[in-house]
Amino acid sequence: MSLKLPALRFNRTFAFGAALILLAAGVLIGTLSEQAYRAQKLREIEIQAAIVAESVTAPLMFNDTAAAQDLANALAANPQVRAVSIYGADGVLAAAYRRIGDDTALPTRPEISEPRFQSAFAEITRPALRDGQTQGFVYLRFDRDSVVARLARYAAIGLLVIMAALVLIVAGAAQGALARANEELLAKANALADTNAQLNKEIEQRQEAEEALLQSRKMEAIGQLTGGVAHDFNNLLMVIAGGLRMLEKQNEERRAKAMEAMKQAVDRGAGLTRQLLAFARRQTLRMETIDAGRQLTGMREMLERSLRADILLDMAIAPGLPPIKTDPGQFELAVLNLAVNARDAMQKGGLLTITANAAHGGRTVEVIVKDTGTGIAPEILERIFEPYFTTKQIGEGTGLGLSQVYGFVQQSGGDVRIESEVGHGASVILSLPASDEPLPAPAPAPAIETAQRPRAVLVVEDDDGVADTVQSMLDELGHKVTRARSADEALQFLSRDGGYDFVFSDIVMPGGKSGVELAQDLARTKPTLPVLLTTGYSGNQDIDQRYPVLRKPYQIHELQAAIADLMRRSAHP
Ligand SMILES: Nc1ncnc2c1ncn2[C@@H]1O[C@H](COP(=O)(O)OP(=O)(O)OP(=O)(O)O)[C@@H](O)[C@H]1O
Ligand SMILES: [Mg+2]
Repeated sequence: MSLKLPALRFNRTFAFGAALILLAAGVLIGTLSEQAYRAQKLREIEIQAAIVAESVTAPLMFNDTAAAQDLANALAANPQVRAVSIYGADGVLAAAYRRIGDDTALPTRPEISEPRFQSAFAEITRPALRDGQTQGFVYLRFDRDSVVARLARYAAIGLLVIMAALVLIVAGAAQGALARANEELLAKANALADTNAQLNKEIEQRQEAEEALLQSRKMEAIGQLTGGVAHDFNNLLMVIAGGLRMLEKQNEERRAKAMEAMKQAVDRGAGLTRQLLAFARRQTLRMETIDAGRQLTGMREMLERSLRADILLDMAIAPGLPPIKTDPGQFELAVLNLAVNARDAMQKGGLLTITANAAHGGRTVEVIVKDTGTGIAPEILERIFEPYFTTKQIGEGTGLGLSQVYGFVQQSGGDVRIESEVGHGASVILSLPASDEPLPAPAPAPAIETAQRPRAVLVVEDDDGVADTVQSMLDELGHKVTRARSADEALQFLSRDGGYDFVFSDIVMPGGKSGVELAQDLARTKPTLPVLLTTGYSGNQDIDQRYPVLRKPYQIHELQAAIADLMRRSAHP
């Protein structure tokens, strides 16, 4: 790209030309007015001479030289007259007057002449006539203005002309300098435009390179993810497969052991999917307004159990924190993941500090988990949030902890950053937006009877295997179960028999109404009938925040808690 300035209309040559023309005009005006002055002067001389000649005729006719001399003397009164000589008709001098200081001799004989200028004066000789007869001659010599006086007359014009010329010259010179500066500016602007274009190109190239790098990182992460998931789930499946074989052997002690190992494997698998979903951001958060301080204080015992004896836990929770809106379960999981990371980074013991305080003028709550461990090397710092990125041995870490933290923080509308110095520990700072909503009033403690009273449950589940499991759990909890294979079947049962305490329905049932649609139908037809939903996979679009959802796989105590919660809610809506 190159820039163009408009052509300059005023240049130096023009300025000098104009100055010259002005000077010439000045000279011309001067010359013309000098000429006018001379013509005027000569006419004056001529008139004067005519008057003198007229008045001298009588004395000359009568040869009265005394009267002629008186006349000549009288002319001394005129300051412009330098000298006068009067001659008789024969050309003989009759009378004369010469001002003191005039050192030019008077003509001895008259020689008729028109008025004319000499270098220092003007003169005229003319006859004195009477009735066409020459009676004598008159010679007059006048002062002419000095050069200085004449110059002074034109000084004003001259000055103006000179000033105009000067202004033009200065303007011309300035214009020249301006034009040069403009050219330089133009050159610089063009150079800048070139540099800018170059820079843009480099930025583009850099972006392309970064995208390529990102893409290859993504591929690497996906590779690690698939490998890691396969590895972990294979291990879990092995535990469960082995356990099932043990169960067949009917040895009481071994059976118990196998059952325990299988339960742990299932817990671990459930945790894995939870973390994966949180990272993939497909986990629906159960948003609640909570007090982060109270939540953290409540975690103290659990955190201490997760740490080792050589690690000191220090919690500093600022009083009166603004409430935040988040999923309390995910919040706790994130803090736990950070605490476990800190523990693993402090193999020789150390101090784990968890602080919570208001920041940004009360617009956010900052939760800081700080350790005195190994710190994080700068070259891995930007990778640690990737799923399955770990520096730990197989079986010691899956690399999903920080990806859960990342996914959770993103979904809560906050951000996370890490400050770390190798050898001096690391701090993870969760910054969560404060909520305007007030904290809910603490729920009244559930009456044990309410939670445990046997209930009539309508279970809606299309998969028989799952339905069997659910039924056995509900049986064990003492509830009375009716099974429906679809939402429509459930609606039929409900229209025949109104005696159900609540409906427990799967969300995704291919080929028919979903659990959410069923719940929405019931909200219209039977608004007092509580509905508990369950699902193994949760895309956000499937969920209606009005209904509680129990995530699969769940254990019997979780089901029990969910039912108690459901009953409490319907008793105190
Ligand atoms: N506080 C910390 N100090 C030093 N390094 C850390 C810290 N927190 C995380 N890291 C590094 O980041 C890596 C990724 O952490 P992340 O929590 O995602 O996975 P993990 O702890 O390896 O495995 P998982 O949490 O799934 O058991 C860790 O392997 C470790 O190298
Ligand atoms: Mg971890």
